[in-house]
Parts: sequence; structure tokens; C-alpha cells
Amino acid sequence: MTDYGFLIEEARKAREYSYSPYSHFAVGAALLTEGGKKYTGCNVENSSYGVSNCAERTALFKAVSEGEKEFSAIAIAGARVLSDGSKKEVFCPPCGVCRQALSEFCKEDLSVIIGKEDGTYMVTALKELLPLKFGL
Ligand code: THU
Repeated sequence: MTDYGFLIEEARKAREYSYSPYSHFAVGAALLTEGGKKYTGCNVENSSYGVSNCAERTALFKAVSEGEKEFSAIAIAGARVLSDGSKKEVFCPPCGVCRQALSEFCKEDLSVIIGKEDGTYMVTALKELLPLKFGL
């Protein structure tokens, strides 16, 4: 099995830039292209809550806007931000909107790596998270 430790570490690093003063929930994502390049992103919230963007879509839109359209894996690292500013690792599967956004560009066997509370990670695939996806 592929060792995705390097990708989850990238997601955790990207999480440091999370702008999440409203939810106090910080998320980082790292998207790996078929060519081996990495695009990272974090959640960026807004006082008008619905304007907020998830980490996964930040990474996806950065990559697509730079011409990338073929991806092999995405890693996601979530954490609760405590009152002293420290972070407590939380299991954070991608939300439904991000699953659909990923499905536009990623093959159904895209590996999805999700950081766990104990510092390890689980590996699943987009097709497991979004069966019967919508597409035109
Ligand atoms: N969030 C993500 O960035 N990715 C997810 O998959 C789930 C939720 C963000 C959105 C919001 O800024 C915060 O986490 C709490 O919902």
C-alpha cells in the first residue's frame, strides 16, 4: 500500500494558514497531481458564513487554475482550534460539496487520505465517498 504520510504532512502544514475565526475548525488539504506536483489549500471563512471556502476546494481551484486536471490523491487534515490557539487533531472527511467538486476533475479511484485523531490516517477512494455521482 502507498505510504501517504508525506501528503498528510503537507495537509497539516497547509492547515496552519487556515482562516477560521468563526468555526474554530481548521482544515488543510494537499492535492497530488498525476505528474507528482502538490497543491495545498486551507479553509477560508467569511463573516457572511456562506461565502466560506473549504480547504479541499481551495487546493482544487488553485490546481485547476494553473492548468492541472489529472489528480491521483488528496489528503485532508482537520483540527479543532482551542482557546489557547493550539490544535486538536479531528477526523475530517470531505463535505458533500467538496466531493462533488472533486468529482468534476478526479477519476473515481482518486485516493482520499483522511487524518485521524491519533496522528495516523485512513485511505479511501472518491467512489466510496460519492457513489452515483451527478454529472452531465
Ligand atoms: N471544512 C473544510 O474546509 N473541509 C471540509 O471537508 C469540511 C469543513 C471547513 C469549512 C468551515 O470553514 C469549517 O471547516 C467548519 O465547517
